Amino acid sequence: MIGAVILAAGSGKRMGTTVPKQHMTLKGKPLYMHSVDAFLPMVSSIVVVAQQDRVPEVEKELSGSRYQGRVSVCAGGEERYDSAYAGLKCLETLGDFEYVLIHDAARCNVKADVIFNVIRDMKAYGAAVAAVPEKNTVKQANAEGFVEKTLDRTKLWEIQTPQGFLKAHLMEGYEAFFAAPVDGITDDASILEAYTAYPVKLTMGSYGNIKVTTPEDVALLTNGRI
Ligand code: CTP
Ligand code: MG
Repeated sequence: MIGAVILAAGSGKRMGTTVPKQHMTLKGKPLYMHSVDAFLPMVSSIVVVAQQDRVPEVEKELSGSRYQGRVSVCAGGEERYDSAYAGLKCLETLGDFEYVLIHDAARCNVKADVIFNVIRDMKAYGAAVAAVPEKNTVKQANAEGFVEKTLDRTKLWEIQTPQGFLKAHLMEGYEAFFAAPVDGITDDASILEAYTAYPVKLTMGSYGNIKVTTPEDVALLTNGRI
């Protein structure tokens, strides 16, 4: 069985709107709901992780019959990894899931083919993350803002979500992380990298699978440009 955790408990500081970006209305529905609707046909259960005081609102929005018994809502935490772990613990109360997909609600333009490909690779390799080859030249800078060196672009990938894992492997990593936390954990694959020896497969994502972060990103989506 596959479960999905959709992370929607951030504060959206870079967007700068009063309503957090994941609750903005996009094409007639809350932004986070685009991800819920994309994952619903692909998994058995979904946990939406929301800010604690927005849990009742999200539960109400997801009370329609198509979500009944398939979608649960739980409260997130201070950091993304706190929210991810809260979602995983919630998923564990719902059933015995062998696999879990974790997805940022902010990536509201995710399409079925990307989810399908991550599921395929997660089953083949144990862990898989959506990613696209880097298109830009990327340089490493020093603390003073001067170029240190140019990185080899042919080896660089931009990491997206969904990210899929054998749930037991991800939980093993998260438990080790919370016992002895390190900095720089900005996605779930980082947990496997830092705390386990399990390999992570890069699965071709999509350049349109953007993470809505600033108002320019919303404009791209509303104009139908991506
Ligand atoms: N997220 C979460 N819990 C947190 C922080 C982030 O569930 N404590 C979620 C966000 O809602 C988002 C995803 O993780 O869907 C990726 O985070 P990001 O795009 O950085 O969103 P925010 O943290 O909300 O935005 P910002 O960093 O600009 O404040
Ligand atoms: Mg953030």
